[in-house]
Amino acid sequence: MKKIVFIIFTIFSFITCKEANNKKPMIEKKPFGITKDQIPVEEYILKNSSEMSVQIITYGGIITAIKVPDRDGKILDVTLGFEKLSDYEKRSPYFGALIGRYGNRIAKGKFSLDGKEYNLVQNNGENHLHGGNKGFDKVVWTAETLILNDAAQLKLTYQSKDMEEGYPGNLDVEVIYKLTNDNSIEVEYSAVTDKKTIINLTQHTYFNLSGNKDILDHKLMINADKYLPVDENLIPLGEIISVSESPFDFKKSKTIGKDIEDNHIQLELGGGYDHCWVLNEQNIGLRTAAILIDPASGRQMEVLTDEPGIQFYSGNFLDGTLPMKNSDFFYEKHSGLCLETQHFPNSPNEPSFPTVELNAGENFYSKTVFKFTNRTLN
Ligand code: GLA
Repeated sequence: MKKIVFIIFTIFSFITCKEANNKKPMIEKKPFGITKDQIPVEEYILKNSSEMSVQIITYGGIITAIKVPDRDGKILDVTLGFEKLSDYEKRSPYFGALIGRYGNRIAKGKFSLDGKEYNLVQNNGENHLHGGNKGFDKVVWTAETLILNDAAQLKLTYQSKDMEEGYPGNLDVEVIYKLTNDNSIEVEYSAVTDKKTIINLTQHTYFNLSGNKDILDHKLMINADKYLPVDENLIPLGEIISVSESPFDFKKSKTIGKDIEDNHIQLELGGGYDHCWVLNEQNIGLRTAAILIDPASGRQMEVLTDEPGIQFYSGNFLDGTLPMKNSDFFYEKHSGLCLETQHFPNSPNEPSFPTVELNAGENFYSKTVFKFTNRTLN
């Protein structure tokens, strides 16, 4: 009898274990509300064969949640965001959103292409920020799903019309979000225009790997020897300077709170870090741009990109007025941080910066990966 029970138990464990290993990536779809212009918005939940999931809505291609385990397997949503679509429409500081046509600022909203001057929407004082009043973060994208053996994939497409927010050329944009079985979120951006234009696409997720009230205890490494100092409107001065012996030195991993309150003019301008770092090893394709660690939980996120820069924004403008999702609390200063892989701000007006011009018929392509792991050691 004992032997039979043992055999049945062994067969049962084998089957359940096999099932666990055979868990396939999958995608669920749910309604996420209707925009003020009466357009229905869907939420896609991408799950991989491990314990990770990513939620994305068609409005703004916004990542509304990223759920990842810590070193003990405890799952946490590591992003900031809202519960309601109307909050994303009315008062979002770009939580989780796709940013375009141009990530970050263009001075006075002006730039020239082949001698012709263009005037973009001025939506940040006299400057242009993150694509204008209705950037790619505020439009509804068309979605298509695909399940692969090793990943769940969501393809989003959008056509930005000639002169939308002041940009020339009809631009067809495609963003592929892929959640792989090894807990990476791959983001691939492609675009093609019918007239010469400028382009700088990025992703504006606010991360908090701990679930604590702020990110000041997180450790950050940025693979950059240099950064771009800014003026009082956070527009780069045009100089590229060394991070050495300054609070901007993240070459070796350091706690974000360590120098953030330092008496340094560049930190005072934006109330913390809100700068573009010039990544090392340009033009080699995908390489590590940054590594973010929450030592307490062991959650770690590595950011890889082929872009020349990364904007590290330490959530300085969060001021306790935005309601936290699934909670009665509000987001305070430094509740989350952004690591926006990109070309440099104001590049169209800085000839020495890598170009952001895209010619008619030319293919734009860029890739960024957010790779999550658990560290057993601090
Ligand atoms: C970017 C900018 C910041 C701020 C945020 C959104 O990171 O660099 O200055 O505009 O977006 O609040």
